[in-house]
Amino acid sequence: MSSKHIETEAIRTQIERSQFLEHSSPMYLTSSYVFEDAEDMRASFADEKERNIYSRYSNPNSSEFVEKVCKMEGAERGYAFASGMSAVFSTFAALLDSDDHIISSRSIFGSTQTLFNNILPKWKISTSYFKIDELDAIESLIQPNTKVIYAESPTNPAVDILDLKRLGDIAKKHNLLFIIDNCFATPYLQQPIKFGADLVIHSATKLMDGQGRVLGGVTVGSSELIQKIYLFSRISGPALSPFNSWVLSKSLETLPVRVDRHCDNALKVATFLESHENVKLVKYPFLKSHPQYELAKKQMKLGGSIVAFEIKGGIEAGRQFLNAIKLLSLSANLGDTRTIVTHPASTTHAKIPEAIRLETGITAGLIRISVGLEHPEDIINDLKQALEN
Ligand SMILES: Cc1ncc(COP(=O)(O)O)c(C=O)c1O
Repeated sequence: MSSKHIETEAIRTQIERSQFLEHSSPMYLTSSYVFEDAEDMRASFADEKERNIYSRYSNPNSSEFVEKVCKMEGAERGYAFASGMSAVFSTFAALLDSDDHIISSRSIFGSTQTLFNNILPKWKISTSYFKIDELDAIESLIQPNTKVIYAESPTNPAVDILDLKRLGDIAKKHNLLFIIDNCFATPYLQQPIKFGADLVIHSATKLMDGQGRVLGGVTVGSSELIQKIYLFSRISGPALSPFNSWVLSKSLETLPVRVDRHCDNALKVATFLESHENVKLVKYPFLKSHPQYELAKKQMKLGGSIVAFEIKGGIEAGRQFLNAIKLLSLSANLGDTRTIVTHPASTTHAKIPEAIRLETGITAGLIRISVGLEHPEDIINDLKQALEN
């Protein structure tokens, strides 16, 4: 683990300067690299040298981005992907064989569920699910072919919290890989490796970019596991582009200050919603009313940028609320400077059967707010007028 603070690592982790002695890392838009001579070329391809060969394998900008995430998460090595979903898919595809089995939290991102339910079964990889309040049931789900325990915390979109230490202990006891999607928390708020995670995955599209510009993903963990993911990915080709790597590495420089303000604003929004008569339920990890408030305080630095709430009057009231929003955005993304309001049951989680949606707290009236960096009074005023419309 680095001896420097996470804020410093996010800024001072930089690739070597070029002969121009630039202060800020330049963008290396090149698909390939040249060799000194035939022997240099042979040795490079034989993996006898650590150097850039081709940007599907590595690129100075993606190396800088990955190195920063490793330092922030306390990981040895990583690989950067074109999107969060390519990070999730490539991690599983690289590490699992046919007939393997995954144990996953039921409360995971919609596309990850679709991957587990509809795509991995093509290779006879099956998944069993546990509910977030039934960690005791996990051991009974373990089969001789189980390889992985997988979870997200806070969950998307219901912002429930899972006990990462308990999950890590179960995985260790049964010699299973423990993989966490840490996208909602970011390494600034929570470092799953400290709780026993073997691999940490991010959709960098969210708070890592933080300004709604580029897609990206990253997986970090032990050198041994990442080597397998790297060998799979350099052949199958999901690499992050140098341009997006450069954007994301620059964005990480401001991640801690941005996330501090996101969390500040989110707590203000959650407190406002909780006091409003047209709101039935508010979920925010650092509100005392959150069912896992104590756990959230233990494993997270702050409560995150996402607030979930249920409006009184169900689906129709939810529809009217969304139509009355003026300043905030109705959009599918999260972790942006712009506050985003979504209705998960009809959008991001629409492909999940209703019974399963309800099991994970995604009721018809649930609204998810990704609280942005506008002035909190302006965010609250827009929510207020839409609630009272
Ligand atoms: C928790 C979580 N994981 C993964 C993803 C997928 O990321 P991407 O959209 O970058 O592929 C998302 C996207 O919303 C997400 O919220």
